[in-house]
Amino acid sequence: MFISLLSLMIFADRPVDPHSFANTQEVVHDHLDLKFKLDFEAKVIHGTATLRLVYAKPTQQLVLDTRDLIIDRVFEPVSGENLSFELGPEQAYLGRALKIDLGGKQPQQVAISYHSQPQAAALQWLAPSQTTSKKLPFLFTQSQAILARTWIPCMDSPGVRVTFNASVDAPKGIRVIMGAKHTQEDMGKGHFEFAMPYSIPPYLIALAAGELEFKAMSKRTGVYAEPAVVEKAAWEFADAEKMIEATESIYGPYDWERWDILVLPPSFPFGGMENPMLTFATPTVIAGDRSLVSLLAHELAHSWSGNLVTNATWNDFWLNEGTTTYTEARIMEVLLGPDFANMHRALGQQDLRETVQDMSKSPDDTHLFLNLKDRDPDDGMTDIAYEKGANFLTVLEHHFGREKWDAFLKNYFRSNAFSTITTEAFLKQLKEGLFKDHPEDWQKLKVEDWVFGPGIPDNLVQTSNPLGKATDEALAALKAGKAPAELETKGWITQQWLDFIRNLPEMDNGQMKALDDAFNFSKSGNSEILFAWVMRAIPADYQAAYPAMEHFLTHMGRRKFLKPIYQELMKHERTQALAKSIYAKARDGYHPISVTSLDPVLDFKP
Ligand code: BES
Ligand code: ZN
Repeated sequence: MFISLLSLMIFADRPVDPHSFANTQEVVHDHLDLKFKLDFEAKVIHGTATLRLVYAKPTQQLVLDTRDLIIDRVFEPVSGENLSFELGPEQAYLGRALKIDLGGKQPQQVAISYHSQPQAAALQWLAPSQTTSKKLPFLFTQSQAILARTWIPCMDSPGVRVTFNASVDAPKGIRVIMGAKHTQEDMGKGHFEFAMPYSIPPYLIALAAGELEFKAMSKRTGVYAEPAVVEKAAWEFADAEKMIEATESIYGPYDWERWDILVLPPSFPFGGMENPMLTFATPTVIAGDRSLVSLLAHELAHSWSGNLVTNATWNDFWLNEGTTTYTEARIMEVLLGPDFANMHRALGQQDLRETVQDMSKSPDDTHLFLNLKDRDPDDGMTDIAYEKGANFLTVLEHHFGREKWDAFLKNYFRSNAFSTITTEAFLKQLKEGLFKDHPEDWQKLKVEDWVFGPGIPDNLVQTSNPLGKATDEALAALKAGKAPAELETKGWITQQWLDFIRNLPEMDNGQMKALDDAFNFSKSGNSEILFAWVMRAIPADYQAAYPAMEHFLTHMGRRKFLKPIYQELMKHERTQALAKSIYAKARDGYHPISVTSLDPVLDFKP
């Protein structure tokens, strides 16, 4: 077999991915042709996936990832000849290997007809009653980390990249969008076509369908949302174009042509998801005053860190999220200035300290580079990857200075574009780039402690934080006995309120009431403020906040809010029954991803 230069490049140094069954050392797919038919009644996607293959060596088998997929037929699409296949044993969260017998040939393409099951973890099917206008059903996908395999049989590993075409049929009146170029849209016929010409890992393949309107914000940015939400969203996200320009000024051109933002129904389990060309976002980011849009800066930053240069395996997740969290603050610094950015960074450091403390019993999980073999990659989604990762990069930035550091990063994104990066390769590039003339700095900056060691090394950078100083002063005055209404809080931004609430001393009921009377926290329409407040209300047994808490828990499904609240409720005997009764009511409306995390918290046996 002739092995091309291209395939040598594709296979060079590919690390073993502990979360994929695929035989990527022998063969990979580099293009997918996808056909989907959406059946909302049955909650099933009927699909055909045609995989274009590139071989490293002759191989008998093609091994793919599947989970909860029913395989109807496997065939060679040119001859139409059937290929025999078998499904391996079911493994927790990994699913089943699909082993396709290539019949001694090296077919250029293999096609799989299949359908998904209603419980597919990547899919949430919403009834019309769960949408804002209640007219049409809604479907959205969430493939990261290893859920693409629940709706597409593929090599579901971040180290394997594909371009794709997709053609989608849906019931009339429903609009289908994907994180890709929209090449054909016929709402009348219910037919849609898409093309993704840039090579992406399967975890970034994304689709949504429902009653969706579009509003343009700039030439290359716009918002998709349910009709009742689209105007509010377009106002809230008006700085999208400025965010792209800010990032381009540091890292070079945006490679994905468009950046649209889809606002999902409230059950979306995450804050945001960086699907290429089309960020998916929670409606809880819409505060009415643009105060939470750093979340969009985060998802945009993934267009470089993650989507352009991708973590090779989920053990290297910190390279996606740490670099992105670092960049998020840089973007906000350009948009809103250093005081805002430093307040934002300080909140991140508080999260980091708290997480390290909470994880004191499993210090290995506080390393940046993880070993998630035999564990769900979801276990790695902690503030360690995000905040310890970002703080490590901040150490490098401060030591080398922005000019050198930015040049390094810009070159890093360019030279690794559309490929993957391991922790080892990242460190090598650092060593041979930034540290080349100063190898002794490697030890001095404790690089290996940051990456391979527990906790927070003592050279964490603390920047001056004037906005945080104001909240510290208010907290000190409160502790000294000043009445809440007398505190100097005029002109505070959301992040200062968060700092204030999180760092309140232990409060009794009366003190909580005085704060609530002065600042109306229980009535806050800002999801982050309400969340922070509820997290204080539960230990203080401040019951006046419980109706608002119950409404919050039953009207949105963002796991980052749900899980800590339910955990806090379950921690105290007096609120356990309340937690269980709210969960019993709300569970049906939550996404499978949230349900999987919450069932154990609430001792819920399905
Ligand atoms: N890519 C992540 C979301 C994710 C990570 C989904 C791992 C599944 C597995 C996304 O970019 C993200 O980090 N979202 C955050 C928001 C951000 C502002 C920290 C979230 O959803 O909370
Ligand atoms: Zn992220």
